[in-house]
Amino acid sequence: MAVKSRRRQGRGGLASVGGVAATLLLLWLVQRHSLALSVVPGGTHAGSNHAPWRKRAEAEQAPLSQAQSADESSGRLQQAQPPTLPAPPPQAQPPPLPDLDAVPRLFLSFGNAAYFELAHNWARSVQALGVPYIIAAFDNEMLGRCAEAGLVCTKIEFGQAADFRGDFVAFRAMGAVKVRFALGMLEQHPSLQLVVVSDTDTVWLRQPWDYLEQRPAADFFISSDCLSHEVEERWQEGHRQPRCGHIPGNEAHAFNTGLFAARNTAGSRAVLKAWADMLLDPTKEHADDPMHRGIDDQLAMNQILEAGGLLPASKEDNHTVLAFNRTLLLHTLPVVLFSNGHVAFVQRTPWRLGLAPIVIHATFQRHNLVGKKARMREFGLWHMDPPEYYGAGAAPLRLLGYENPVLDFVAEAEREKYGPQGRRMPLFEKHWLVHALQPLPRRDALAAAKILGRTVLLPQLWCWCDSDEHPHILMRCRIRGTDYRTPFECPLDFLISPGALDYFKMGYRHAGFLEQPQVPAMLRHSRAVVRIAASRPEPAFPDPRQTVGHAATVWPGIRGPDLKRALLPVDSAAVLELRGQVPGFLGGWDPEQASVATAFDDTFAQIAQEAKWCCFAWGDADEDYTYFPYKLPPPLAAPWEPWKPPRLEMPDWCDKVSTKYGNRDFTLLPQHPCAFMRNATAAELAADDSGRYNVLWPPLDGT
Ligand SMILES: *[C@@H]1O[C@H](CO)[C@@H](O)[C@H](O)[C@H]1NC(C)=O
Ligand SMILES: *[C@@H]1O[C@H](CO)[C@@H](O)[C@H](O)[C@H]1NC(C)=O
Ligand SMILES: *[C@@H]1O[C@H](CO)[C@@H](O)[C@H](O)[C@H]1NC(C)=O
Repeated sequence: MAVKSRRRQGRGGLASVGGVAATLLLLWLVQRHSLALSVVPGGTHAGSNHAPWRKRAEAEQAPLSQAQSADESSGRLQQAQPPTLPAPPPQAQPPPLPDLDAVPRLFLSFGNAAYFELAHNWARSVQALGVPYIIAAFDNEMLGRCAEAGLVCTKIEFGQAADFRGDFVAFRAMGAVKVRFALGMLEQHPSLQLVVVSDTDTVWLRQPWDYLEQRPAADFFISSDCLSHEVEERWQEGHRQPRCGHIPGNEAHAFNTGLFAARNTAGSRAVLKAWADMLLDPTKEHADDPMHRGIDDQLAMNQILEAGGLLPASKEDNHTVLAFNRTLLLHTLPVVLFSNGHVAFVQRTPWRLGLAPIVIHATFQRHNLVGKKARMREFGLWHMDPPEYYGAGAAPLRLLGYENPVLDFVAEAEREKYGPQGRRMPLFEKHWLVHALQPLPRRDALAAAKILGRTVLLPQLWCWCDSDEHPHILMRCRIRGTDYRTPFECPLDFLISPGALDYFKMGYRHAGFLEQPQVPAMLRHSRAVVRIAASRPEPAFPDPRQTVGHAATVWPGIRGPDLKRALLPVDSAAVLELRGQVPGFLGGWDPEQASVATAFDDTFAQIAQEAKWCCFAWGDADEDYTYFPYKLPPPLAAPWEPWKPPRLEMPDWCDKVSTKYGNRDFTLLPQHPCAFMRNATAAELAADDSGRYNVLWPPLDGT
């Protein structure tokens, strides 16, 4: 996905100036590690990009360059800068660079103005570690913004832009510029022992020095897209799990160049040089594989490291291996401490094991920059929000939270539908049911918050089925070679596009927000529960003198004016929490405000348009059958009716899917509704939630 959408970016826009080229390339470089499970043949898999709000968002956004493509727009919603930024005050200079002949270790990243906010977040996390760092800036605007923010930046020259023969060549050259910059530091400053290079979409939680120094044998450290800590811990030959080929005796390497550390040794310098050379070598632009993949900086480094195979280097440290034609002592950073986005944000492996990761790289998600930012926020790793965001500023923060008892809901639905036959519900069906349910409470809470002048505090989202670019996810609802079980607590973007919520200014706070240390204790403690009764109580608006504790009760079908009146006794509480049957509790606005209700319905429909499961077909074929929409709530402007739980219906297109890219065969995989709704064997397999998916798991192995 990442690869082909980036390719489209160009349309010749790079021919002119280095600044534009640098901007584009940085966009590309930041996006490029986003999701790299596999490359989709044909068109993009991102059908959600056709949403009308995205088009408007794009139109309203100052174009970053002529070469901007729709595919990347969501990433730019927040990041693209207006064309005429106020020039920084002339006297503003970035703070002095660290003296590279005096510091033994350095953190390095690269950035440009379009990604300033992300770079700033990176820098704040690194500053908190108290380690020297440099951001190499690709444009003057970035330098100016660094100066304003007091970040240590230096200009990196990105010459010969006019010579590029095409985008991809430029992308590669950009990679080479970065590599040479790091190499130059090591060559010119012999006393500099170690450079840690990480993309700006990484966040550092603690210093890596102990870890690196305890492995003195290694020349070079690199992160990986391996998704299983357990596979890394077992460290076995022939484990046959994808993306963890850095363990000797395995294939499918997935080194991720967005995070590496180079000791100042001959081996490290040689591999950096080979890397830059390969990126500048026109004969090494495309791989010999059937897809003729472009060799970007990541693939280049993978090819270089795996040349000659990976061989154990010593008995004492079998995690450090000989790579690069047996000339480099390589250590692959373990995913539990140097976590990619799936291990951290989806599997939550480090915390499950009681560990704090050292760094997290916000990879493996589908919403580009806005998605990275949302995930960092959700995990308390976004350091860019002002005190007001946490309710610590002058303006009060008033929240409306709600219960999300989906585990009970699923258990009940399973008992009802499958219990009598002694069977269990397929994972995909559970996932669909819950995702068909979750937009409804969210809608009611968003609308109630609007009526009450509050901000929604979202509950934790639960998922039974992961998403992936490849429909093979329909085997087990999990990605192969992973450590999580189902259900799992999933990030917000599994249900809804954070970009859409932002675009429509739907203020919200993530689950767990109240536990963030920036939230003042006064706010955290100022809470009241709002009970949702089964029916309108009598009296509906009790005298506060008659209530103890639970001072406010609402009921199904309640409308704006009654809602406000019922909550009056608890109005001063900063945090209200709805408890009970949230879906469908809200009757909407009162009749005089029909236009407000209609406008809200319209907005919500656009946000919820993207609430669909993604991955039934592969490539540019069968687009009508690729997505599976979640059921949407009836509009608030319509007459209120009691809530009825959603039911999964069999798709009417089961036998219409084409055979292109094997799409027809995917309809037979156990988690496909077309399979489990008409094949009892598939249904039984689809209900199997046992174990983790990181061993060969009969009878479905070999995919
Ligand atoms: C590895 O060594 C072989 C034989 O010396 C050579 O042909 C090849 O180019 C080397 N590969 C790399 C990546 O340096
Ligand atoms: C690596 O070392 C550990 C501990 O000494 C050992 O249990 C394991 O078998 C070794 N693995 C390989 C592939 O050599
Ligand atoms: C039913 O599902 C099982 C398991 O996926 C599969 O092996 C079998 O071929 C399917 N039967 C039919 C008739 O499609």
